Amino acid sequence: MVNVKEIRKDFPMFSNNPDLVYLDNAATTFKPQCVIDAVTGVYTQMTSNIHRGDYDLSHRISTAYDQTRTHVASFLNAEEDEIIFTSGASASLNMAAYGYGLTNLREGDVILSTEAEHASNILPWFKVSEMTHSKIEYISLNEKGELTVENFKKAMHEKVKVVAISYVSNVLGYINPIKDITEIAHEMNAVVFLDAAQAVPHMKVDVKELNVDFMSFSGHKMLAPSGIGVLYGKKDILEKTDSYMMGGGSNARFDMCGNLLLREIPYRFESGTPAIEATIGLDAAIDYLEKIGLDEIQTREAELKRYAIEQLSKLDNIILYNPDAETGIITFNIKDVFAQDAAGYLNSKHIAVRTGLHCAKMLVDILKTSDTIRASLYFYNTKEEIDRFVQVCSEITLEKCIDIFF
Ligand SMILES: Cc1ncc(COP(=O)(O)O)c(C=O)c1O
Repeated sequence: MVNVKEIRKDFPMFSNNPDLVYLDNAATTFKPQCVIDAVTGVYTQMTSNIHRGDYDLSHRISTAYDQTRTHVASFLNAEEDEIIFTSGASASLNMAAYGYGLTNLREGDVILSTEAEHASNILPWFKVSEMTHSKIEYISLNEKGELTVENFKKAMHEKVKVVAISYVSNVLGYINPIKDITEIAHEMNAVVFLDAAQAVPHMKVDVKELNVDFMSFSGHKMLAPSGIGVLYGKKDILEKTDSYMMGGGSNARFDMCGNLLLREIPYRFESGTPAIEATIGLDAAIDYLEKIGLDEIQTREAELKRYAIEQLSKLDNIILYNPDAETGIITFNIKDVFAQDAAGYLNSKHIAVRTGLHCAKMLVDILKTSDTIRASLYFYNTKEEIDRFVQVCSEITLEKCIDIFF
């Protein structure tokens, strides 16, 4: 079981901000001391570039960097050469969409997605569809905003070449039935691109079990520094993917006639000096998550979420949009109060939440509002924090918000 009191001692943000209730973990997470130490260790003991220097220091940092790739691969049950380091989920999603889409899609082909996608998982496809004259179609979501296997089956047809969806919606928090979706997509020869930015930090993810072709996520949403992300790609699919970012590190040879020989996968996708310290920080973050256990983390977050929903449901000024989603994302509004005003009131009581449509701007039709408040939990949150959050929500009225602002 997660001993949250002990765990919180590992995060300096808690002791440095004793009044703060941080409920914006879907945006980014706090960092434990071991991650901070790993980053500091690079600056204080190992500063040098990777894979370039002919001296011990460079060898040491290269080894630490390469070990992270091995670790990420075992964390996801992938092969080492299927792990590409990027600057974050957005970079991974763009790299996969352009790299695969521009070389493999033709006029009339279809990219299948949903209206619940984060901008980073749909906008690259807007561009790719425009450039290849392919088109985007959307799977109908049910009235709660869930993606069901039934609706997916109805939306699939032989022109669909790409399925681009998220594992967990960053607004509604539903876990999509990816294994079933992948099976159906593959039967019809479509390639599955999974945005797992809100899944990998919170639950065990096994790429072989899911059988996805591409998968993207960010380090900063799972205790690691910002500036590091991962693109997983199946080896045979990566062979058919173009590496559009060129530079040092990705090539074996080139000459003045324009001949270019790229390096092997995954290096051909990694040009330039990477975020070395962030990558080594990711290694420490995965270590930390593994010590707690991803199943434990998922169970704890589901328990906290259930508790929060139970308490919020007792209030008569709350509109809940996803009470039965299994993850720690709570999307709601306060009746008759504009979301940003309510968030301002929460902020005045040191409670951090986010408002808006959370980069999933096509969800307006389902939610029937253009602004919601999102409170997002991580395993280090406590029931006491939820009690404080619920108490403050119960107090919010339009008049009180006006008092705060004027
Ligand atoms: C579902 C989802 N996909 C992609 C992203 C983009 O992640 P990043 O901003 O780290 O690139 C986010 C960020 O909130 C997200 O929630």
